[in-house]
Amino acid sequence: MNDSGQIVSVELGSRSYSISIDTGNVAQTGVLLRTWLNLAADRPLKCFVVTDTNVLHPHANAVKKALTATGAEVRVVCVKAGEDSKSLKELSDLYDELVDFKADRKTVVIAIGGGVIGDLAGFLAATYARGLSFVQIPTTLLAMVDSSVGGKTGINHPKGKNLIGAFHQPVGVLIDIDMIATLPDREYCSGLAEVIKYGVIMDAEFFSYLENNIVGLNNRDPDVVAHIVARSCQLKAEVVQEDEFETTGLRAILNYGHTYAHAFEALGGYGALLHGEAVSIGMVCASRLARKLGRITDEDVKRQIELLRAVQLPVDVPETLQNRPDDILNCMLLDKKTVSGDLKFILPDRIGHVETIGGIDSQSVVACLS
Ligand code: NAD
Ligand code: GLY
Repeated sequence: MNDSGQIVSVELGSRSYSISIDTGNVAQTGVLLRTWLNLAADRPLKCFVVTDTNVLHPHANAVKKALTATGAEVRVVCVKAGEDSKSLKELSDLYDELVDFKADRKTVVIAIGGGVIGDLAGFLAATYARGLSFVQIPTTLLAMVDSSVGGKTGINHPKGKNLIGAFHQPVGVLIDIDMIATLPDREYCSGLAEVIKYGVIMDAEFFSYLENNIVGLNNRDPDVVAHIVARSCQLKAEVVQEDEFETTGLRAILNYGHTYAHAFEALGGYGALLHGEAVSIGMVCASRLARKLGRITDEDVKRQIELLRAVQLPVDVPETLQNRPDDILNCMLLDKKTVSGDLKFILPDRIGHVETIGGIDSQSVVACLS
Protein backbone atom coordinates (compact mmCIF):
# COMPACT_ATOMS: atom_id res chain seq x y z
CA MET A 1 0.00 0.00 0.00
CA ASN A 2 1.55 3.37 -0.96
CA ASP A 3 -0.11 6.59 0.15
CA SER A 4 2.78 8.97 -0.58
CA GLY A 5 1.73 11.69 -2.97
CA GLN A 6 -1.78 11.79 -1.53
CA ILE A 7 -4.00 14.83 -1.26
CA VAL A 8 -6.73 14.79 1.40
CA SER A 9 -9.37 17.50 1.00
CA VAL A 10 -11.08 19.21 3.90
CA GLU A 11 -14.36 20.55 2.48
CA LEU A 12 -15.51 23.57 4.47
CA GLY A 13 -16.98 25.87 1.82
CA SER A 14 -14.92 29.05 1.56
CA ARG A 15 -12.55 27.66 4.24
CA SER A 16 -11.77 24.44 2.33
CA TYR A 17 -8.16 23.31 2.04
CA SER A 18 -5.87 20.49 0.98
CA ILE A 19 -3.54 18.32 3.01
CA SER A 20 -0.55 17.37 0.86
CA ILE A 21 1.06 14.13 2.11
CA ASP A 22 4.32 13.02 0.51
CA THR A 23 8.00 12.37 1.09
CA GLY A 24 10.42 15.19 0.34
CA ASN A 25 7.61 17.62 -0.53
CA VAL A 26 9.04 20.24 1.83
CA ALA A 27 11.09 21.33 -1.20
CA GLN A 28 7.78 22.26 -2.83
CA THR A 29 6.66 24.55 0.02
CA GLY A 30 6.97 27.79 -2.00
CA VAL A 31 5.18 26.40 -5.05
CA LEU A 32 2.40 24.77 -2.99
CA LEU A 33 1.90 27.93 -0.95
CA ARG A 34 1.46 30.09 -4.03
CA THR A 35 -1.06 27.56 -5.39
CA TRP A 36 -3.04 27.57 -2.14
CA LEU A 37 -3.00 31.39 -2.06
CA ASN A 38 -3.73 31.65 -5.78
CA LEU A 39 -0.69 33.91 -6.04
CA ALA A 40 1.29 34.22 -9.28
CA ALA A 41 5.03 33.42 -9.16
CA ASP A 42 5.97 37.07 -9.81
CA ARG A 43 3.85 38.50 -6.97
CA PRO A 44 5.53 39.45 -3.66
CA LEU A 45 5.01 37.10 -0.69
CA LYS A 46 5.91 37.69 2.96
CA CYS A 47 6.15 34.57 5.17
CA PHE A 48 6.42 34.56 8.94
CA VAL A 49 7.64 31.11 10.02
CA VAL A 50 7.23 29.97 13.63
CA THR A 51 9.21 26.94 14.79
CA ASP A 52 10.90 25.53 17.91
CA THR A 53 14.44 24.79 18.98
CA ASN A 54 14.22 21.06 18.09
CA VAL A 55 12.75 21.63 14.65
CA LEU A 56 14.78 24.61 13.38
CA HIS A 57 17.60 22.39 12.08
CA PRO A 58 17.03 20.84 9.60
CA HIS A 59 13.27 21.16 9.03
CA ALA A 60 12.48 24.88 9.39
CA ASN A 61 15.67 25.76 7.53
CA ALA A 62 14.53 23.52 4.66
CA VAL A 63 11.19 25.37 4.60
CA LYS A 64 12.98 28.73 4.52
CA LYS A 65 15.18 27.57 1.64
CA ALA A 66 12.16 26.37 -0.35
CA LEU A 67 10.31 29.62 0.23
CA THR A 68 13.18 31.94 -0.65
CA ALA A 69 13.79 29.90 -3.82
CA THR A 70 10.39 31.07 -5.02
CA GLY A 71 11.07 34.73 -4.20
CA ALA A 72 9.39 34.99 -0.80
CA GLU A 73 10.61 37.28 1.95
CA VAL A 74 10.95 35.05 5.01
CA ARG A 75 11.35 35.71 8.75
CA VAL A 76 11.92 32.61 10.93
CA VAL A 77 11.20 32.93 14.64
CA CYS A 78 12.28 30.05 16.88
CA VAL A 79 10.62 29.55 20.28
CA LYS A 80 11.73 27.24 23.07
CA ALA A 81 10.51 23.66 22.53
CA GLY A 82 7.77 22.49 24.90
CA GLU A 83 4.27 23.16 26.20
CA ASP A 84 5.39 26.25 28.18
CA SER A 85 5.67 28.15 24.90
CA LYS A 86 1.88 28.05 24.46
CA SER A 87 1.73 31.17 26.64
CA LEU A 88 0.52 34.77 26.51
CA LYS A 89 4.12 35.94 26.93
CA GLU A 90 5.33 33.96 23.91
CA LEU A 91 2.33 35.12 21.88
CA SER A 92 3.03 38.74 22.81
CA ASP A 93 6.67 38.39 21.68
CA LEU A 94 5.47 36.97 18.37
CA TYR A 95 3.09 39.94 17.87
CA ASP A 96 6.14 42.21 18.40
CA GLU A 97 8.07 40.24 15.79
CA LEU A 98 5.19 40.56 13.31
CA VAL A 99 5.11 44.33 13.83
CA ASP A 100 8.89 44.49 13.38
CA PHE A 101 8.55 42.39 10.19
CA LYS A 102 6.02 45.00 8.93
CA ALA A 103 3.50 42.22 8.41
CA ASP A 104 0.46 43.24 6.40
CA ARG A 105 -2.83 41.47 5.83
CA LYS A 106 -1.29 39.42 3.01
CA THR A 107 1.49 38.06 5.22
CA VAL A 108 1.27 34.30 5.70
CA VAL A 109 2.02 32.67 9.06
CA ILE A 110 3.60 29.22 8.73
CA ALA A 111 3.80 26.81 11.68
CA ILE A 112 6.52 24.19 11.42
CA GLY A 113 6.64 21.92 14.43
CA GLY A 114 4.43 19.78 16.64
CA GLY A 115 1.07 20.63 18.14
CA VAL A 116 2.55 23.29 20.40
CA ILE A 117 3.83 25.34 17.48
CA GLY A 118 0.68 24.69 15.41
CA ASP A 119 -1.61 25.88 18.21
CA LEU A 120 0.53 28.92 19.07
CA ALA A 121 1.20 30.09 15.51
CA GLY A 122 -2.39 29.33 14.53
CA PHE A 123 -3.73 31.56 17.29
CA LEU A 124 -1.22 34.25 16.29
CA ALA A 125 -2.55 34.06 12.73
CA ALA A 126 -6.17 34.04 13.92
CA THR A 127 -5.75 37.24 15.93
CA TYR A 128 -3.17 39.46 14.22
CA ALA A 129 -4.76 42.13 12.00
CA ARG A 130 -8.08 40.27 12.49
CA GLY A 131 -6.75 37.17 10.77
CA LEU A 132 -3.80 36.23 8.57
CA SER A 133 -3.54 33.27 6.23
CA PHE A 134 -2.02 30.30 7.99
CA VAL A 135 -0.19 27.16 6.85
CA GLN A 136 0.56 24.08 8.94
CA ILE A 137 3.72 22.00 8.39
CA PRO A 138 3.42 19.38 11.16
CA THR A 139 6.59 17.56 12.23
CA THR A 140 5.34 15.19 14.97
CA LEU A 141 3.12 12.20 14.25
CA LEU A 142 0.50 13.65 16.62
CA ALA A 143 0.45 16.94 14.71
CA MET A 144 0.30 15.14 11.34
CA VAL A 145 -2.71 13.00 12.32
CA ASP A 146 -4.58 15.37 14.61
CA SER A 147 -3.63 18.91 15.63
CA SER A 148 -2.71 20.32 12.19
CA VAL A 149 -6.16 19.47 10.80
CA GLY A 150 -9.42 21.06 11.88
CA GLY A 151 -8.55 24.64 12.81
CA LYS A 152 -8.38 24.49 16.60
CA THR A 153 -5.73 26.99 17.73
CA GLY A 154 -4.87 28.42 21.11
CA ILE A 155 -2.63 28.92 24.10
CA ASN A 156 -2.76 27.87 27.75
CA HIS A 157 -3.93 29.93 30.73
CA PRO A 158 -1.94 29.28 33.93
CA LYS A 159 -5.13 27.70 35.33
CA GLY A 160 -6.06 25.58 32.33
CA LYS A 161 -4.83 24.07 29.10
CA ASN A 162 -6.10 25.51 25.81
CA LEU A 163 -8.40 27.97 27.63
CA ILE A 164 -7.66 30.83 25.21
CA GLY A 165 -8.23 30.00 21.59
CA ALA A 166 -10.02 30.36 18.29
CA PHE A 167 -11.10 28.30 15.33
CA HIS A 168 -8.88 29.34 12.41
CA GLN A 169 -8.52 26.92 9.51
CA PRO A 170 -5.21 26.79 7.64
CA VAL A 171 -5.12 27.50 3.88
CA GLY A 172 -3.18 24.27 3.48
CA VAL A 173 -1.33 21.54 5.38
CA LEU A 174 1.98 20.18 4.07
CA ILE A 175 3.01 16.82 5.52
CA ASP A 176 6.48 15.59 4.64
CA ILE A 177 6.66 12.05 6.02
CA ASP A 178 10.49 12.21 5.95
CA MET A 179 10.36 14.63 8.90
CA ILE A 180 9.28 11.78 11.17
CA ALA A 181 12.83 10.35 10.94
CA THR A 182 14.22 12.77 13.55
CA LEU A 183 11.32 12.36 16.00
CA PRO A 184 12.28 10.68 19.32
CA ASP A 185 10.72 7.19 19.81
CA ARG A 186 8.57 8.26 22.75
CA GLU A 187 7.02 11.13 20.75
CA TYR A 188 6.42 8.82 17.77
CA CYS A 189 4.66 6.20 19.93
CA SER A 190 2.60 8.91 21.58
CA GLY A 191 1.26 9.89 18.14
CA LEU A 192 0.30 6.26 17.47
CA ALA A 193 -2.26 6.46 20.31
CA GLU A 194 -4.28 9.01 18.30
CA VAL A 195 -3.97 6.82 15.20
CA ILE A 196 -5.36 3.80 17.08
CA LYS A 197 -8.12 6.07 18.42
CA TYR A 198 -9.39 6.67 14.85
CA GLY A 199 -9.67 2.92 14.33
CA VAL A 200 -11.74 2.44 17.47
CA ILE A 201 -14.05 5.41 16.93
CA MET A 202 -14.65 5.23 13.19
CA ASP A 203 -13.00 2.49 11.18
CA ALA A 204 -12.84 -1.20 12.14
CA GLU A 205 -10.97 -2.05 8.93
CA PHE A 206 -8.28 0.52 9.77
CA PHE A 207 -8.02 -0.96 13.28
CA SER A 208 -7.39 -4.40 11.72
CA TYR A 209 -4.80 -2.85 9.37
CA LEU A 210 -2.95 -1.54 12.44
CA GLU A 211 -3.13 -4.96 14.13
CA ASN A 212 -1.68 -6.55 10.99
CA ASN A 213 1.17 -4.05 10.57
CA ILE A 214 2.82 -3.93 14.00
CA VAL A 215 6.32 -4.43 12.60
CA GLY A 216 5.88 -1.64 10.04
CA LEU A 217 4.45 0.65 12.71
CA ASN A 218 7.32 0.00 15.09
CA ASN A 219 9.96 0.33 12.34
CA ARG A 220 8.38 3.50 10.94
CA ASP A 221 8.07 1.80 7.55
CA PRO A 222 7.52 4.76 5.16
CA ASP A 223 4.59 3.13 3.36
CA VAL A 224 2.89 2.22 6.63
CA VAL A 225 3.47 5.70 8.08
CA ALA A 226 2.18 7.36 4.89
CA HIS A 227 -0.95 5.18 5.02
CA ILE A 228 -1.74 5.78 8.70
CA VAL A 229 -1.22 9.53 8.29
CA ALA A 230 -3.41 9.71 5.18
CA ARG A 231 -6.22 7.57 6.66
CA SER A 232 -6.17 9.48 9.97
CA CYS A 233 -6.36 12.80 8.11
CA GLN A 234 -9.29 11.51 6.00
CA LEU A 235 -11.16 10.39 9.12
CA LYS A 236 -10.49 13.64 10.98
CA ALA A 237 -11.56 15.63 7.88
CA GLU A 238 -14.86 13.69 7.79
CA VAL A 239 -15.61 14.69 11.38
CA VAL A 240 -14.53 18.32 11.01
CA GLN A 241 -16.58 18.71 7.81
CA GLU A 242 -19.70 17.62 9.72
CA ASP A 243 -19.07 19.60 12.92
CA GLU A 244 -16.43 22.29 12.33
CA PHE A 245 -17.26 24.36 15.41
CA GLU A 246 -18.09 21.46 17.76
CA THR A 247 -21.76 22.35 18.00
CA THR A 248 -23.54 19.08 17.15
CA GLY A 249 -21.53 16.85 19.46
CA LEU A 250 -20.04 14.78 16.62
CA ARG A 251 -16.55 16.33 16.92
CA ALA A 252 -16.50 15.20 20.57
CA ILE A 253 -15.96 11.59 19.38
CA LEU A 254 -12.34 12.63 18.71
CA ASN A 255 -12.04 12.80 22.49
CA TYR A 256 -12.31 9.03 23.01
CA GLY A 257 -10.15 8.20 26.05
CA HIS A 258 -9.49 11.89 26.66
CA THR A 259 -11.81 12.36 29.68
CA TYR A 260 -9.62 9.97 31.69
CA ALA A 261 -6.45 11.17 29.92
CA HIS A 262 -6.91 14.86 30.76
CA ALA A 263 -7.25 13.94 34.45
CA PHE A 264 -4.09 11.77 34.31
CA GLU A 265 -2.16 14.58 32.59
CA ALA A 266 -3.33 17.25 35.03
CA LEU A 267 -2.76 15.19 38.19
CA GLY A 268 0.46 13.54 37.06
CA GLY A 269 1.88 16.94 36.15
CA TYR A 270 1.97 17.90 32.47
CA GLY A 271 5.04 16.30 30.92
CA ALA A 272 5.14 13.24 33.23
CA LEU A 273 2.93 11.44 30.73
CA LEU A 274 3.00 12.54 27.10
CA HIS A 275 -0.48 13.34 25.75
CA GLY A 276 -0.65 10.16 23.64
CA GLU A 277 0.52 8.04 26.56
CA ALA A 278 -2.28 9.46 28.74
CA VAL A 279 -4.74 8.87 25.87
CA SER A 280 -3.57 5.26 25.57
CA ILE A 281 -4.29 4.57 29.25
CA GLY A 282 -7.51 6.61 28.98
CA MET A 283 -8.75 4.49 26.07
CA VAL A 284 -8.14 1.34 28.10
CA CYS A 285 -10.17 2.79 31.01
CA ALA A 286 -12.96 3.94 28.68
CA SER A 287 -13.12 0.53 27.00
CA ARG A 288 -13.36 -1.13 30.44
CA LEU A 289 -16.19 1.26 31.25
CA ALA A 290 -17.94 0.34 28.02
CA ARG A 291 -17.50 -3.35 28.94
CA LYS A 292 -18.87 -2.72 32.45
CA LEU A 293 -21.96 -1.12 30.89
CA GLY A 294 -22.39 -4.14 28.63
CA ARG A 295 -21.68 -2.16 25.47
CA ILE A 296 -18.68 -4.14 24.17
CA THR A 297 -17.20 -7.60 24.61
CA ASP A 298 -14.10 -8.70 26.57
CA GLU A 299 -12.54 -9.41 23.17
CA ASP A 300 -13.01 -5.75 22.07
CA VAL A 301 -11.22 -4.57 25.24
CA LYS A 302 -8.44 -7.12 24.78
CA ARG A 303 -7.80 -6.15 21.16
CA GLN A 304 -7.31 -2.50 22.15
CA ILE A 305 -4.95 -3.36 25.03
CA GLU A 306 -2.92 -5.72 22.86
CA LEU A 307 -2.56 -3.23 20.02
CA LEU A 308 -1.55 -0.38 22.34
CA ARG A 309 0.99 -2.63 24.09
CA ALA A 310 2.37 -3.87 20.77
CA VAL A 311 3.33 -0.30 19.79
CA GLN A 312 5.02 0.31 23.16
CA LEU A 313 2.26 2.44 24.68
CA PRO A 314 1.42 2.27 28.41
CA VAL A 315 -1.94 0.70 29.29
CA ASP A 316 -1.96 0.81 33.11
CA VAL A 317 -2.93 3.78 35.26
CA PRO A 318 0.23 4.77 37.21
CA GLU A 319 -0.03 3.55 40.82
CA THR A 320 0.29 7.09 42.17
CA LEU A 321 -2.93 8.00 40.34
CA GLN A 322 -4.86 4.81 41.14
CA ASN A 323 -4.92 5.92 44.78
CA ARG A 324 -6.58 9.26 43.93
CA PRO A 325 -10.07 8.40 42.61
CA ASP A 326 -11.67 11.54 44.10
CA ASP A 327 -9.08 13.84 42.52
CA ILE A 328 -9.57 12.07 39.21
CA LEU A 329 -13.35 12.52 39.39
CA ASN A 330 -12.97 16.21 40.29
CA CYS A 331 -10.65 16.76 37.34
CA MET A 332 -13.11 15.00 35.05
CA LEU A 333 -15.88 17.36 36.15
CA LEU A 334 -13.85 20.16 34.51
CA ASP A 335 -13.99 18.29 31.18
CA LYS A 336 -15.64 20.34 28.42
CA LYS A 337 -18.16 17.53 27.79
CA THR A 338 -19.47 17.70 31.38
CA VAL A 339 -22.91 19.37 31.57
CA SER A 340 -24.41 20.27 34.98
CA GLY A 341 -22.15 17.77 36.75
CA ASP A 342 -23.10 14.88 34.44
CA LEU A 343 -19.87 13.30 33.19
CA LYS A 344 -20.06 12.35 29.54
CA PHE A 345 -17.90 9.65 27.99
CA ILE A 346 -17.20 8.63 24.43
CA LEU A 347 -17.71 4.88 24.55
CA PRO A 348 -17.48 2.21 21.85
CA ASP A 349 -20.32 -0.20 21.14
CA ARG A 350 -17.95 -2.13 18.86
CA ILE A 351 -14.52 -1.53 17.32
CA GLY A 352 -15.17 1.17 14.71
CA HIS A 353 -18.10 2.96 16.34
CA VAL A 354 -18.63 5.13 19.44
CA GLU A 355 -21.40 7.11 21.10
CA THR A 356 -21.49 9.85 23.75
CA ILE A 357 -22.92 8.42 26.97
CA GLY A 358 -23.94 10.33 30.10
CA GLY A 359 -25.60 9.41 33.38
CA ILE A 360 -22.85 7.01 34.43
CA ASP A 361 -22.39 6.60 38.21
CA SER A 362 -19.03 7.73 39.55
CA GLN A 363 -18.36 4.34 41.22
CA SER A 364 -18.28 2.70 37.79
CA VAL A 365 -16.04 5.45 36.43
CA VAL A 366 -13.36 4.97 39.10
CA ALA A 367 -13.74 1.18 39.13
CA CYS A 368 -12.28 1.19 35.61
CA LEU A 369 -8.99 2.72 36.73
CA SER A 370 -7.62 -0.78 37.37
P1 NAD B 1 5.15 19.23 20.76
O1 NAD B 1 4.76 20.23 19.77
O2 NAD B 1 5.60 19.71 22.08
O3 NAD B 1 6.27 18.30 20.13
C1 NAD B 1 6.82 17.26 20.90
C2 NAD B 1 8.35 17.35 20.95
O4 NAD B 1 8.88 16.90 19.71
C3 NAD B 1 8.89 18.76 21.15
O5 NAD B 1 10.01 18.69 21.99
C4 NAD B 1 9.30 19.17 19.75
O6 NAD B 1 10.32 20.14 19.78
C5 NAD B 1 9.79 17.88 19.19
N1 NAD B 1 9.73 17.73 17.74
C6 NAD B 1 8.72 18.09 16.91
N2 NAD B 1 8.95 17.63 15.68
C7 NAD B 1 10.14 17.01 15.71
C8 NAD B 1 10.90 16.32 14.71
N3 NAD B 1 10.46 16.11 13.48
N4 NAD B 1 12.09 15.83 15.10
C9 NAD B 1 12.54 15.96 16.38
N5 NAD B 1 11.86 16.56 17.35
C10 NAD B 1 10.65 17.07 17.02
O7 NAD B 1 3.97 18.18 21.05
P2 NAD B 1 2.89 17.44 20.16
O8 NAD B 1 2.70 16.13 20.80
O9 NAD B 1 3.21 17.49 18.71
O10 NAD B 1 1.58 18.33 20.37
C11 NAD B 1 1.02 18.52 21.65
C12 NAD B 1 0.25 19.81 21.63
O11 NAD B 1 -0.75 19.74 20.64
C13 NAD B 1 -0.45 20.12 22.95
O12 NAD B 1 -0.23 21.47 23.28
C14 NAD B 1 -1.93 19.89 22.63
O13 NAD B 1 -2.77 20.72 23.39
C15 NAD B 1 -1.97 20.23 21.17
N6 NAD B 1 -3.06 19.58 20.42
C16 NAD B 1 -3.84 20.36 19.66
C17 NAD B 1 -4.85 19.78 18.91
C18 NAD B 1 -5.69 20.65 18.00
O14 NAD B 1 -6.65 20.14 17.44
N7 NAD B 1 -5.34 21.90 17.81
C19 NAD B 1 -5.08 18.40 18.95
C20 NAD B 1 -4.24 17.62 19.74
C21 NAD B 1 -3.23 18.22 20.48
N1 GLY C 1 -8.27 17.12 18.67
C1 GLY C 1 -9.67 17.22 18.81
C2 GLY C 1 -10.31 18.11 17.81
O1 GLY C 1 -9.67 18.60 16.92
O2 GLY C 1 -11.48 18.36 17.91
